Parts: sequence; C-alpha cells; structure tokens
Amino acid sequence: MGIMKVTNAEEFEALIQKVKEAQAEYATYSQEQVDEIFRRAAIAANDKRIQLAKMAVADTGMGIVEDKVIKNHFSSEFIYNKYRDEKTCGVLEDDLAFGIKKIAEPVGIVAGIVPTTNPTSTTIFKSLLALKTRNAIVFSPHPRAKNCTIEAAKTVLEAAVEAGAPDYIVGWIDEPSIELSQLLMKHQDISLILATGGPGMVKAAYSSGTPAIGVGAGNTPAVIDETAHIKMAVSSILMSKTFGNGVICASEQSVSVVADVYEEVKQEFIDRGAYVLSPAEREKVAEVIIVDGHVNAQIVGQPAYKIAELAGVTVPKETKVLIAEVEEIGANEPFSYEKLSPTLAMYKVKDFEEGVDNAVELVKFGGYGHTSSLYTDPANTDRKDYFGSKMKTGRIIVNMPASQGAIGDIYNFKLSPSLTLGCGSWGGNSVSENVEVKHLMNVKTIAERKENMLWFRVPEKIYFKYGALPIALKELEGKKRAFIVTDKPLYDLGYTEKITEVLETVGVDFRIFSDVKPDPTLSTVEKAVKQMDSFQPDVIIALGGGSPMDAAKIMWLMYEHPEAEFKELSMTFMDIRKRIYKFPELGSKAYFVAIPTTSGTGSEVTPFAVVTDDSTGIKYPIADYELTPDMAIVDPDLVLSMPARLTAYSGIDALVHAIEAYVSVLSSEYTKGLALEAIRLVFKYLPRSYRGGAEDRKAKEKMHYAATTAGMAFANAFLGVCHSMAHKLGSTFHVPHGLANALLINEVIEYNASDVPVKQTAFPQYKYPLAKTNYAKIADHLGLGGNSEDEKVQLLINAINELKAEIDIPNTIEEAGVTEKNFYAQLDEMSELAFDDQCTGANPRYPLISEIKELYINAFEGKKVVEETVEEESIEEVADAEAEVAATAEDAE
Ligand SMILES: NC(=O)c1ccc[n+]([C@@H]2O[C@H](COP(=O)([O-])OP(=O)(O)OC[C@H]3O[C@@H](n4cnc5c(N)ncnc54)[C@H](O)[C@@H]3O)[C@@H](O)[C@H]2O)c1
Ligand SMILES: [Fe+2]
Repeated sequence: MGIMKVTNAEEFEALIQKVKEAQAEYATYSQEQVDEIFRRAAIAANDKRIQLAKMAVADTGMGIVEDKVIKNHFSSEFIYNKYRDEKTCGVLEDDLAFGIKKIAEPVGIVAGIVPTTNPTSTTIFKSLLALKTRNAIVFSPHPRAKNCTIEAAKTVLEAAVEAGAPDYIVGWIDEPSIELSQLLMKHQDISLILATGGPGMVKAAYSSGTPAIGVGAGNTPAVIDETAHIKMAVSSILMSKTFGNGVICASEQSVSVVADVYEEVKQEFIDRGAYVLSPAEREKVAEVIIVDGHVNAQIVGQPAYKIAELAGVTVPKETKVLIAEVEEIGANEPFSYEKLSPTLAMYKVKDFEEGVDNAVELVKFGGYGHTSSLYTDPANTDRKDYFGSKMKTGRIIVNMPASQGAIGDIYNFKLSPSLTLGCGSWGGNSVSENVEVKHLMNVKTIAERKENMLWFRVPEKIYFKYGALPIALKELEGKKRAFIVTDKPLYDLGYTEKITEVLETVGVDFRIFSDVKPDPTLSTVEKAVKQMDSFQPDVIIALGGGSPMDAAKIMWLMYEHPEAEFKELSMTFMDIRKRIYKFPELGSKAYFVAIPTTSGTGSEVTPFAVVTDDSTGIKYPIADYELTPDMAIVDPDLVLSMPARLTAYSGIDALVHAIEAYVSVLSSEYTKGLALEAIRLVFKYLPRSYRGGAEDRKAKEKMHYAATTAGMAFANAFLGVCHSMAHKLGSTFHVPHGLANALLINEVIEYNASDVPVKQTAFPQYKYPLAKTNYAKIADHLGLGGNSEDEKVQLLINAINELKAEIDIPNTIEEAGVTEKNFYAQLDEMSELAFDDQCTGANPRYPLISEIKELYINAFEGKKVVEETVEEESIEEVADAEAEVAATAEDAE
C-alpha cells in the first residue's frame, strides 16, 4: 500500500499525481469489485470505531468518546447497509420501451474537507461514499483534528487496497495549512469538493471555482405544543443535546413551549437532569457562550458543568443541559445563537402558532436551511403540515431527537444516512438534502430516438348511402329529448322534417334551433345553450354544413361544461397529447349526431370546430377528440340541393383537406389511403357534381363520401400551412373558406415540394423531407404521368389548375375581389397570424413568416398562371389518359 507524506506544495503535487493514476484505474472496476472494496472498507472502519473515537476526543478535546463511537458505527454500518445493493457503476437503468439508458461514471478526485466536531465519522462517511462511486478522495484535515482524521482515512485506505483497490485511492495532507487546503480546492485535477465545516471554509469551497457541495450551519429550533408527549419530548431533546456534548450541527439550540404545558415541560427537564439557570446565573453564562457574535470555541463540545464553571456558576457535575429561560431572538440574546454545546434557550409561547413564529425567527437569525423540529400529537396532520410549510429548513423532523434524527435512518425511514446535511440555497449551499452517493456520480443519459404512439380516432358509427338518414336515426329509439341544430335555409328547405318524422315514430321529443349563421358566433351558441339548459336534451342532432355542425359541437361543450373557458379551450398546442389545457370530457349528458348537408368540411367526423367571438371578432379554432361526433350520417339525398358555387367551394375544401393530410408530418398508414381515395374522387366527380347538380346523383354521392373520407384523414393527420393561410385570408377579407384554399393550394404545394427546405418540421415520425415524394405519389395515384418527381409535382399543380378552371374558381386573390391596397395593408399581420395558426405545426415544411408572406403575394399576383400556359398541352394529354382510366374504373365503383 502506498502512502506519501504531504507537508508542502511539492509533496502535495506528487500525491495528486499518484491519486490521479489510482482513480483512472479504479474507474474501470466492475460493480462487484467495487462492492467488495466498499464492504471491506466499511468493516475496517467499523472495527476501529472505539480507537478512532478515543483519538478524536484526544485530538480535539471535544465531545464524548461513547457518542463518537456511535457516530463511527453509524458512518460505517448504516452507510454500508444503505448502499450495499445500490448500482453505482456503469448502467444504472435501461428502459428499452422508452429508449433510455442511464450510465454512472465517477466524478474523479474528490476533495474531502472535514470538521473538528465530527472528524473521524465524517472521514469514514466521505471515503466510503467515494469508494462506492469509483472516485478517489483526498482529505484536508482540520489542524485540530489531524491525527484522528488521518488515522480514519488510513484505515479505510488499507482495507480498500487489501480488497483490491489501487494504491493511493484515498489520500490526505499530513500537515494541513491554509495554503495547502487552498491548493487542494483549486487544483485542476480535483473534480468536486465535499466540504463540511464552518461558514468560512464552506464559502472558500464555493469560491474556489471547483464544483462544490458544502453545507452550512444550523440553529435548530424545537417546538413543543400542548398535545405533545411531554416525557418523550423532553428525554429526546436531552439525549440529542447531550450527544457528543451538543456538537452535532442538527441538535436543538432552543425550545419553544406552549404556555399551557410550559411548567410541566420545565419540571420534566429538571427531573431528567437539566439545570434551569436563575436570571443572575443566566447573565453570567450568556457572557461565556458567545464572544463577539461567535460561539466561544472553549465551550464547543464541553459538558454542561464545565461551561457553568467557566461562567462562575456552580451546578451539579451530572447536569445534562443548561437551560436559559429567555424571550428575545437576535444578537442581544446569546442563547438564541447556535451554541454547539449542551446549552439551550427556552421560550414560553402563547400557542402553537406563536411557537412556529418563534421557530421561523430563530431559523432566520441563525440557520436558514438546516433543521427544525416539532413535538406534537402524531394525529395532528394540520399542525405538521403548517409547521412544514413555514420552516425554511432542509429537514423538518417530527417527534424525534434532532441530532440522531437529522442524520437519517435511525429514527426515521428514507431520510438518507449522512453526516453532510445540505442547507439548500437558503443556507448558501448547492444541495438541500442529506448528501449521498448520487451526489458523487456523473450520470450520462443515452436517449434513443423513439416515436410516440400514434392514433386513429373517428366516430364510432359512420352511416352512408342514399336513404341512410331515416334508418340510422331509428337507432335513437330510447332517447328522450333531441335538440336539433341547423340554419334557416335548411329549415326552410324542409330538411328538419326528415329528422322529426323519424323521431316521432320512435317517441323522441325534440326542439329545433335554426338560427345558426355562416361562420357561427358565440352569442348564437349561448342562445342555444340557454334553450338546451331548460330542455335538457340527451341527444344533439347537427344538421347542415360546417357552420351548424361546428356550432352544435360548441353548444355540446357549453351545455355539458358551462365552466369551460374559451381562451383556454382554444390555446394552440405543439402536440395535442401534451397540451397544457385539459379538455373536459363530453358525452355524459348528450349523444351527438352529425348530418352533413354540404360535401366539404368533414366536420361530421372531425374533432375540430371553429367559432367566432362576436364581441371581439376573434375566431377560435377548437380541437380535441372529445368534439368528435358519436354518429355521422352521410346521406347524399341531403346534398342534391346544394347550389353550384357551394358545391365548388366545399369540394375544393375537401380536396385540400386530403392533400394536406397526405403530406402532413402526422400522416400515417391509416390516413394515407383515405386521403388518396378522397383526392381521386374529387378529381373525378367534382366537375360533374358542379355542372350536373341534382341530376348527377352519382357525382353528388361520390363527392359526399370524398368529403367524409378526407375528413377522417385530416381528423388524424391534421392539415398544413394552406389552411393556416386560408383561415386568415378568409377572416380578413371574408373570402369563403373553400375558395381561400383554392387560391393558395398550388403555391403551397410548390413551396412544400422541396428536398432541401429551409426548415424541416420537427416530428419524430417525419424522418426526412418527403413532401415532394408524397405529392408525386398523389400524381401517380391520379395517373398523371411524369418521369421525375419534379415533373409529377408540376403535373399535379396543373391538374389542380385545370380542375379549378372547370368549376369557375378565379386564378388569383385579386381576381377573387380583394383590392391591391387592402391586401398589402393587411399582408404583414395576416402572414404572422397564419404562421401562428394551429394548422402550421403539421405542415411538412416549417415556414418562416417571410416565406408565408411571399406565398400570399404570389397567390395575389398570380405568378404561377403564366408558367402553366406553357404546360397546357400536357394537361390535355393527362386529361385524356385520366378519362380512359376513369372509364374502366367507373363500373367497379
Ligand atoms: N370542423 C371542421 O373540421 C371544419 C372544416 C372546414 C371548415 N369548417 C367550417 O365550416 C364552415 C363552412 O361550412 P360549409 O362550407 O359547409 O358551409 P355552411 O355550413 O356555412 O353553409 C353555407 C350555406 O349553404 C347552405 N347550405 C348548406 N347545405 C345546403 C344544401 N344541402 N342545400 C342548399 N343550401 C345548403 C347553408 O344554409 C348556408 O347558407 C366554416 O365556418 C368553416 O370554418 C369546419
Ligand atoms: Fe377546410
């Protein structure tokens, strides 16, 4: 075993180099090797507990041998027991499901600073922690506790090396000096300082520039209330106070006793060996305990009678503690200081609350962050909580001696056994807990790329086909009251009768609300909810386009949860699963049926609703799967009456839903098929539906399904920046939603279709820029031809232009009726709002605000139209090809 004598800087440097080599080697040891070294070192320290205790008392002249034996016993046996099976080397944790692995590595060389009050036990404690964590440790003993500290370190070193640890794994300075301890703390090879000691030393550790865990002083107050077990309380305090003659930093410095039991407590103290000083004696003792605002070194760890003697007061030799009945707290009252001796201040307080106030003051005066103690009936949960909430101390202990309680694991469970008790930032420390092995390790976290669970959520029931409505509605048999939400034109068209006829046959009472206007408002919702409150429906039937369906969803929400706050409901989120707002559950009062009469929004199957607060003009897009209807009835009979323009706009809306969902970062195997089918149906049937009107029943039917199918896709894959921009263009200039999308989609496709976007959207499932490939796949699905992805994207854009022309959609925002002046006046604000729209997050390309602005300008001025005329020919070819494919597929549908 190697030992070097260190008395000067040169020798110190030589030691550090040896220790460094030792630690480098020790860092490679396995958990088994380390555990055996830890065990043998603990046994050796334990074996020497009496000899080391005697040496400590001889060296320092403080404390009591028998009590130091307990501390040495504790710091070897309890520490071993606590960490014997704890993993501290290599892999600590390996969670395959979440892809997280935690690996422990030693910090390196630890500098151990040891106090005079607990020199041997602290040395044992720190060196065992260091060994368990594959660190080396070098001690700087207190000059007054040099011999015993070195002996303790040597004992651990010998046993460790014998058990296989490298030589020099524990080191120390033989002739401590301020210069050498500074060298130690500032040395570049020291990774961490573990400092226990007076405030000056702890401050020096923190100022050294080396990472440090230093712990501060305390001024532990005890409170005894009128419900406490008085005999137990008094004996506990006496035991704690006399332990090592009061040197433990956690021991009680004062006791505040509730007046009702004050005399009883005082008598119990006297009966158990305490001495209550008379006022004159108190004055004399006060003079010797604190000198110039500091505890007098001559009284630290001395027996009570010696302290009395020093003050010229005679007390029996067996006196356990000197008690001073005092009232003040602060510099004027020496007994209110931390005294590290068997002297105790005693305060009479009116009641429990005043006792707590007193304790708060004492902690503030002398020991922020350390320890406080309460004696009360264990059943007094309120008092324990109150005390805990008021005390700014790292340890708040209840019904136990503070010295033995705060060091953990003797009078309590799961408070880590330790001789280094953190006082948190309150005490100017880096930790507030009891220092333990975790503080001596660097833990590396290996986090693997993992994808979160995805989902596919749609209404439980989606009924479709001509004539589905009356059959599906029969399922409502057994319900009592139906609230039908629709708009005036649909009511006038007699559509509600189709519903009420069925309700009458199955015996469901009903009420009709037909006041929803396009772009529904909160005041309309509130009006309806009032009616619902008195009618108490158990089913809500939304009949109409997006407006009545969205309005009815919000009515459902407000009817079931009147307390819901709009601002919070509409808060945008990065990830719908991690949103801050907890959306209330729906369905406890009413079942929700959605019956679309337009072929576009998909609202009958989506978790979205848009509502405008007419008092502010703010549009709230609300999204949560709770808003998904329970039943959707997709009956094409109801869309035969759609005017041509509505057919065109809502049809394009459905197309854009499907395209955006297909290229979204959330698109999945479950949504892509639906999106492609919807796109195909729109291309094939929208012009026919537009031109043919009610006559073309087949086209109307296909378009109706296309909208619902696209709805299911975007209900789960969400949308993109085209919708973000359409929302703001729509609300700024009253451009109908479908039209706004139609004006923007081609710009967005061209913008997204880049293999080198300025910014890719961050979503784990979206591995690399795929938008161009995905648009090309849409083109393939439509049979548009093309040899390269770029060509295919262009052909898709051309096909969309062709489609738009067929259904009479203007080419530019300007052609749609927005004046140049108005457009440019709103452009900046619109761009920023579109950037912040909820739909932006799922777009495959993460847009810059300036890019959005450019897209708006292009869509306004029609940059693209010029290019397309060049491609005219190929569009026609494609159209022909498509017609062929369509002809063959037609029969199958
Ligand atoms: N929740 C969603 O997922 C979602 C998606 C897109 C749009 N929206 C919202 O939907 C609303 C637009 O919905 P919309 O386009 O369906 O229009 P709409 O519901 O506002 O209806 C427009 C007009 O068409 C009439 N109409 C509806 N069906 C008819 C029919 N079969 N015959 C004759 N006239 C009929 C209505 O009476 C109304 O006057 C907007 O508020 C938009 O924000 C919601
Ligand atoms: Fe839409």
